[in-house]
Amino acid sequence: MKIAISGKGGVGKTTLAALLAHYWAQQGREVIAVDADPVATLASALGIPADQVPTPISEMQELIEERTESKKGYGTYFKLNPHVEDIPDTYCARLGRIRLLVLGGVTTGGSGCICPESALLKALVTHLLLGRRDIVILDMEAGIEHLGRATAEAVSLMIVVVDPGQRSLTAAQTIRRLCDDVGIPHVVAVVNKLPAGMSLAAIEKSLDGIPILGVIPYDETIMQADIDNRTIFTNTPAQLALLAPLVAKIEAFEK
Ligand SMILES: Nc1ncnc2c1ncn2[C@@H]1O[C@H](COP(=O)(O)OP(=O)(O)OP(=O)(O)O)[C@@H](O)[C@H]1O
Ligand SMILES: [Mg+2]
Repeated sequence: MKIAISGKGGVGKTTLAALLAHYWAQQGREVIAVDADPVATLASALGIPADQVPTPISEMQELIEERTESKKGYGTYFKLNPHVEDIPDTYCARLGRIRLLVLGGVTTGGSGCICPESALLKALVTHLLLGRRDIVILDMEAGIEHLGRATAEAVSLMIVVVDPGQRSLTAAQTIRRLCDDVGIPHVVAVVNKLPAGMSLAAIEKSLDGIPILGVIPYDETIMQADIDNRTIFTNTPAQLALLAPLVAKIEAFEK
């Protein structure tokens, strides 16, 4: 199962990624949680101590040079298909059955430009989507960076997290268009931070056909966990009861 999570800034992508990773790990499944947001925060949401957070792959100059056979100042040629199969196990942080990979950001001028860093990340994401049996969860930004036509079909599900605000719902439409462009087959929404008593009708209308897979209510304990820099996963009966139906619907998309 390969899950990508996108959505406007601050809607709860990292929260959902961490909840799902822990839920599946607790069920005995191996999970690779991938922080694909250049501003990486998944480690703390998972509960990985700061001193164990791995260096982002995009900042590992030696690794990038070795794998892509690029050396700064020695011409502009580099491998577009570097060897990456060992990276998920070697350069991750482990928390029980969860492995965390931090991709990091690539700062290149202009769009569509390819550099050794982005070639390595692209190869790594392709490997994670096409070459692993583990559950892979990609915590992304408000876009679909790293996903392309070659890997679109391998994404079991793109979850767009929205909150009741119109801006996140507009962002969801943009993300759906990007998914359509590259051919990601299943795009669904999870409504997060829904205030008690609020109806879903207006959100459903604004989503304009993106099906709502599940709802996570506004929850003080989730906010408090972030304030305290603790993991979001509480493993309490109430949280499991909330997550179980959502997970069941996600699993229905597994090929
Ligand atoms: N259901 C919820 N109830 C209350 N607070 C929540 C809920 N979900 C997330 N939050 C809080 O909202 C904030 C943003 O959440 P999170 O970091 O998961 O969002 P994000 O989409 O990953 O943000 P970014 O775009 O910055 O990566 C955090 O402080 C988090 O604790
Ligand atoms: Mg985030």
